[in-house]
Amino acid sequence: MMAAAASANITSASIASYNVKVGMVPKLKPSGLQMKSTHDFRNFSGLKQAASVSCESEASFLGKDSVIALRNSFETKAVKQNINTVAMQPKVQASFKVAVLGAGGGIGQPLALLVKMSPLVGHLNLYDIANVKGVAADLSHCNTPSEVLPFTGPEQLGDALKGVDVVVIPAGVPRKPGMTRDDLFNINAGIVKTLVEAVADNCPDAFIHIISNPVNSTVPIAAEVLKQKGVYNPKKLFGVTTLDVVRANTFVAQKKGLRLIDVDVPVIGGHAGITILPLLSKTKPAVSFTNEEIKELTVRIQNAGTEVVEAKAGAGSATLSMAYAAARFVESSLRALDGDSDVYECSFVQSELSELPFFASRVKLGKNGIEAFVNSDLQGLTDYESAALEALKPELKSSIEKGVAFANKQPVNA
Ligand SMILES: NC(=O)c1ccc[n+]([C@@H]2O[C@H](COP(=O)([O-])OP(=O)(O)OC[C@H]3O[C@@H](n4cnc5c(N)ncnc54)[C@H](O)[C@@H]3O)[C@@H](O)[C@H]2O)c1
Repeated sequence: MMAAAASANITSASIASYNVKVGMVPKLKPSGLQMKSTHDFRNFSGLKQAASVSCESEASFLGKDSVIALRNSFETKAVKQNINTVAMQPKVQASFKVAVLGAGGGIGQPLALLVKMSPLVGHLNLYDIANVKGVAADLSHCNTPSEVLPFTGPEQLGDALKGVDVVVIPAGVPRKPGMTRDDLFNINAGIVKTLVEAVADNCPDAFIHIISNPVNSTVPIAAEVLKQKGVYNPKKLFGVTTLDVVRANTFVAQKKGLRLIDVDVPVIGGHAGITILPLLSKTKPAVSFTNEEIKELTVRIQNAGTEVVEAKAGAGSATLSMAYAAARFVESSLRALDGDSDVYECSFVQSELSELPFFASRVKLGKNGIEAFVNSDLQGLTDYESAALEALKPELKSSIEKGVAFANKQPVNA
């Protein structure tokens, strides 16, 4: 089933043209909360190529124009259709149902807020083993289209998932200083297995976004569970590695003095330590790095999660930047489901781009999930990147195998 998509070669022309157009974005004020621009509005949050819209507005997420501001942040049909978004009243476009599993947590709560801001979401289901009634009540007062409902405890899990289009799973324990992501395996593997079983039973056609670490193992666990349930669709199972891309873009822009919004660095491999491989040679816009800069940036991107874990000193790992990155991936998925034919994101997915069964790379998203793999990113790597790619494979392979072995040792509940 995957072979056709795997062999699809996204041409360098299409990627190049996307990268040219992505530069046509308005400059955000330093707070990032307000926009005033006579420029063409472009999508701030994701990877998008589309016709632009001329627009003059001053909108704030905090004020009455929140929906318009949101539109300007997360591109929607209004932009695609060249409609002047200022001239029109905010129009409810919501239709999709999103569930967040682990919604009461450090990632879950801000992620739920960001998803609540999406004009593409009609229903937002919040599930946790902890009580999320308060979170849902709180969010439900935001005057954005979606209806927010709380679901607490295993007995309500099935209801939380019925009819859902996109399931996001940030349930599980985060790292403390000194821990690797793999140290979370013993707890999070079981959590992901249980939750994905419920997904298989209640919304097998949904896009599944796995955030819970170690992603390099939890995604293979999810795949095995779905296979055992007879509903595995590799085009719809995603390990969320968007934060690695977000970090790479931020650090490169800072280092090179580039406009943040312009920068795009593909990140491949996996989501832990050296398995995170930013392809700096593929940075758009084209930019040159010294060997020292490449090493320094690569190591910083690989260790950025640990940077946050240490700064939080025992209070958890990245939550706010992760919520931002996860919301971007949700929005990209919804745009793809909504028929947008030009959505690209990096993700850890079943893949034939390397000899490993799962691999993170840029993929093209469509209504049915992954439509194609951007294999051109892996062509013409530098010697540094080629060596790093070879070096990451044994660790990634062993994390994948650990996940598969776990799932196969504990067959799913009927
Ligand atoms: N993919 C990434 O880039 C990335 C980045 C940061 C963190 N993470 C991972 O995300 C996960 C969550 O991190 P966090 O900071 O939000 O942790 P957290 O402890 O703040 O929140 C986790 C939430 O999951 C809930 N939970 C636990 N078991 C559950 C179950 N069986 N069903 C439903 N909910 C359950 C908890 O009650 C809690 O509300 C961790 O595994 C962390 O390592 C991934």
